[in-house]
Amino acid sequence: SAQLNDLAVAAGLKYFGTALGEGTINSDSQYAAILNDKREFGQLVPENGQKWDSTEPSRGQFNYNQGDITANQAKRNGQGLRCHTMVWYSQLPNWVSSGSWTKATLTSVMETHINNVMGHYKGQCYAWDVVNEAISDDGQWRNSVFLRTFSTDYLPLSFNLAKKADPNTKLYYNDYNLEYNQAKTDRAVELVKIVQAAGAPIDGVGFQGHLIVGSTPSRANLATTLKRFTALGVEVAYTELDIRHASLPASSSAQVTQGNDFANVVGSCVDVAGCVGVTVWGFTDKHSWVPGTFPGEGDALIYDSNYRKKAAWTSISSVL
Ligand code: XIL
Repeated sequence: SAQLNDLAVAAGLKYFGTALGEGTINSDSQYAAILNDKREFGQLVPENGQKWDSTEPSRGQFNYNQGDITANQAKRNGQGLRCHTMVWYSQLPNWVSSGSWTKATLTSVMETHINNVMGHYKGQCYAWDVVNEAISDDGQWRNSVFLRTFSTDYLPLSFNLAKKADPNTKLYYNDYNLEYNQAKTDRAVELVKIVQAAGAPIDGVGFQGHLIVGSTPSRANLATTLKRFTALGVEVAYTELDIRHASLPASSSAQVTQGNDFANVVGSCVDVAGCVGVTVWGFTDKHSWVPGTFPGEGDALIYDSNYRKKAAWTSISSVL
């Protein structure tokens, strides 16, 4: 029977993908079996293995053991790869976040990092999240060592450095809560314009899609929001989709609502020319970052903790 990536491709998307949890893949064979099925997941993204604290924990000491887990699985299974992430305030080692930098010295640190990591994966990544989460939920620029050192000039700088390191990957800005089309979304539109006005390359905007059951915007409103970005000449994608129940256990009607919410998100991507694909941030409720980050919330994914397909899976399949 048809699986989600096959259905997504038939519906005109490039892929339906998932994040790979590096700690899970070798310890849970049921997890591995589903993840390795390219009919279900045509693309993988490392959940943590390519982040700065994983790839360059101390200055100049590069480590690809974790990041290569996903890259190697994708290669072996004939799946695509999204790559995540370069310039981000979080999971950033202390030597970077607490360093006292001038523009020149931090530029050199960024250039070395980007050249090494993007160079290591050169030619393998469909897209890279070059800058992640540069905007706060209230729409202000997010405070970080990058903003403090460069103001917003670090945005075009990051994209220019990324282009030099891997000229053939798509270069993305990636953030959450863009789906609500409020102040944060306005600022992300401005971000794309800032990068473009500086003459730097930007190819895409990733909507992370960490959403809440019953509070997810409608399919039409989501499509309207995606089109604000495609109107600027960039592609869009849902890059980290999960839709959590705000309280547990979820009733059967809440499960139906969750399914409708997933269908609205995936349907909005199908509706928008220039929305290239959907990636879920894990696929089973057995292994998800949500309960650890949002205590009391969860069951945000498309298989339950016993690896049974949920209503959410079926709802997604019905819009593909
Ligand atoms: C999360 C991972 O899922 C967790 O395992 C980790 O402890 C913290 O980061 N936005 C992002 C992702 O861009 O990298 C985050 O992933 C979730 C929010």
